[in-house]
Amino acid sequence: MLNIGLLGFGVVGQGVYHQVCSRSDLAIRRILVRRSREEIEALAARDIREIVEDDSIHIVVEVMGGLHPAYEYICAALEAGKHVVTANKAVISAYYRELTELAVRKGVALRCTAAAGGGIPWLTTLERCRRMDTIHAIRGIMNGTTNYILDAMHRQGADFDAVLHKAQALGYAEADPAADIDGDDIRRKLVISANIAFGCVVPEEAVPTFGIRTISAADVAAFQAAGFACKLLGSARLTEQGMAARVEPTLVSEHSLEASVPENYNLISYDAALLGRQSFFGQGAGRQPTAANVVQDCLDILQGATGFYIRSMENVTVDNSGVMQRYYVRTPSRDAWLDGLAEETMGPGIITRPVSAGEMLTWARKQAGQDSSTFIAALDA
Ligand SMILES: NC(=O)c1ccc[n+]([C@@H]2O[C@H](COP(=O)([O-])OP(=O)(O)OC[C@H]3O[C@@H](n4cnc5c(N)ncnc54)[C@H](OP(=O)(O)O)[C@@H]3O)[C@@H](O)[C@H]2O)c1
Repeated sequence: MLNIGLLGFGVVGQGVYHQVCSRSDLAIRRILVRRSREEIEALAARDIREIVEDDSIHIVVEVMGGLHPAYEYICAALEAGKHVVTANKAVISAYYRELTELAVRKGVALRCTAAAGGGIPWLTTLERCRRMDTIHAIRGIMNGTTNYILDAMHRQGADFDAVLHKAQALGYAEADPAADIDGDDIRRKLVISANIAFGCVVPEEAVPTFGIRTISAADVAAFQAAGFACKLLGSARLTEQGMAARVEPTLVSEHSLEASVPENYNLISYDAALLGRQSFFGQGAGRQPTAANVVQDCLDILQGATGFYIRSMENVTVDNSGVMQRYYVRTPSRDAWLDGLAEETMGPGIITRPVSAGEMLTWARKQAGQDSSTFIAALDA
């Protein structure tokens, strides 16, 4: 039996609480809250020290979210010799090296399966694959909110704002949707996945990201007429220059696996030398699926698992300059650089000849600063 100190009692925290309550091998000992919660008052702690200084607690489960004080609380728990399980992609992505090194030094587990893939056992499978195979690339739909929006735009021909409002009303999108629609959430999940897949530390800010907030119904109609579906994909691949990694809208064939992913589902794949391509489909978020992966991490610790240690964490340079692909670009103010690349038109935009992804993403970020309606999407090779 392992005792848990739970930090946070929100969407995921309540799921973890209820799932653990029905088990005999795990128990919730204390719950850190910052306001009264009648149903758990007997377990409530108001100060993190009540948890990290409690010798009867073996695992600290952090599901508060955010960088601070989550980072400090996780460090305090590891320093106190407790195993840590978290669903917090922001803190793991930003502090992967620091937290992993601390966990290794203290001889405790640090697990974060729910941080990328939500309810999909993606990270555990990635780690299992890596220990006996060579992973060449990872790629996928890693955010349910943006997939819901893009799927609804394709099915209904609706405009972005209308679909976003509906997604917010249904609880699929946050009141502040920026992290989802601008691709930052995917970038964090991609960084964690790449760290584990390739045994390295990818600096989050080095991964270029372009989101979907400027996609229009006219763009989507043109993609459909040409046999494409637009998906917001995260991808990472080892190259001679280091690592090519980016988050960008991508036009995939309407017959591809990615195109068939509906609503708020995720589909994440790796390509490995022995196993070839394997893809994982499922709920990338939501109370019960996410909490289930948190509880699975606790059960793995009960069985002696040590966590996602990548013992030699190489620093890696992110460089997308060697990735040549065609792009769809729609911008009201075309410049000479873009004119020089244009090969044909597609609906309200143009299709470029193959161009370096690094160069295009740098241009697109600058262009979006000048004209916020600019939209780009890579054409899948
Ligand atoms: N929701 C999902 O489907 C999902 C999926 C995958 C990963 N995650 C990750 O899981 C984590 C939690 O997400 P969530 O959706 O459960 O968030 P949430 O519903 O906002 O819950 C967060 C909880 O933590 C509490 N909290 C925040 N700061 C605190 C502090 N300093 N001291 C004590 N309590 C504090 C909040 O308290 P108040 O109620 O007082 O605000 C709230 O109860 C995040 O890192 C998120 O990225 C979530």
